[in-house]
Amino acid sequence: MPHDPVDLRSDTVTRPSPSMRRAIAEALVGDDVFEDDPTVKDLENLAAEITGQEAALFVPSGTMGNEVAILAHTQRGDEAIVEYDSHIYNYETAGAAVLSGVQLAPISTEKGWFSVEQLERVIRPSDVHEPVTKLVCLENTHNRKGGSVTPIEVMREIREFALSRGLRVHLDGARIFNASAASGIDVKEYCSLCDSTMFCLSKGLGAPIGSMLVGTHGFIKVARRYRKMLGGGMRQVGILAAAGIYALKNNIARLAEDHTRARRLAAALAEIPTLRIQPEEVETNIVVIDIAASGMTVEEVLLLLERKGVLVVPFGRTTVRAVTHLDIDDEDIERAIEVFREVFLKAVK
Ligand SMILES: Cc1ncc(COP(=O)(O)O)c(C=O)c1O
Repeated sequence: MPHDPVDLRSDTVTRPSPSMRRAIAEALVGDDVFEDDPTVKDLENLAAEITGQEAALFVPSGTMGNEVAILAHTQRGDEAIVEYDSHIYNYETAGAAVLSGVQLAPISTEKGWFSVEQLERVIRPSDVHEPVTKLVCLENTHNRKGGSVTPIEVMREIREFALSRGLRVHLDGARIFNASAASGIDVKEYCSLCDSTMFCLSKGLGAPIGSMLVGTHGFIKVARRYRKMLGGGMRQVGILAAAGIYALKNNIARLAEDHTRARRLAAALAEIPTLRIQPEEVETNIVVIDIAASGMTVEEVLLLLERKGVLVVPFGRTTVRAVTHLDIDDEDIERAIEVFREVFLKAVK
């Protein structure tokens, strides 16, 4: 019987396990727009507790969580500082501009985080001609930078600096639990350095849908209104919250396994001469592979891999991305390595 493909496109492709589905089926529900859904309340309390924050809000997606946070922290005409390769700058369809009326000021970085010196250079003086710098957005782990983990000292320095300049800090922590698994630093500590944090339940944690926004009671109250404005007020959504609770209770501790598998994949692929990859830079579950030296295009590579049952995504002109997750085991990784060898070792002959 043919195998299912080894799906390394993203950690968003996981499917709910039988026990998660049971939790979904058994969830108590109410109308969450009336704040009446007991399971959503349980999830929000659990998320606040795990992140050490006062309150939490369940949102349908990471994108909505980020955009709601920008709406809540800013006014039209403000400026928000972001990393050049960040999700907010690249993959939210200019949401900050359209929804918040905010201009984004991107800073290019090598690994996904900027220094206080870089930050200082882009902060606007108080001048009637210029926008008001209001918000600093961080991304940890950083998707386009191959799942890199922002060092906690960098975040501490940014926090201190932001406080001294009256700036708010929002963390796109879609994969903050991966950062924590890699660094050994509690998620509470990361969140304590930010005014708001968004994290995803539907990535490495394996829930089918949903993200959380956490922060102070005051921030979450404002965020709840903006979520409603964006159409993110959901009704008997406890069935999804139940999956989120299951994910937070069962799927955090195992994230380190995804990181081990990503390192195994990276180390094996690094031995293929036509692939360029820095295995020592693989800190979490994302592996970025440069295929330029193979002489093939990204499209050709995707097709060849897919024909042999391995799925990855294009990630730039000459790079593809592979992500490990809950539905990938050791055997899948060995199969993927074998397929890469077949495709790329053949290419040099
Ligand atoms: C760093 C980062 N932030 C935000 C998001 C958005 O999450 P969603 O796909 O749930 O909107 C993603 C999704 O890939 C991401 O990688």
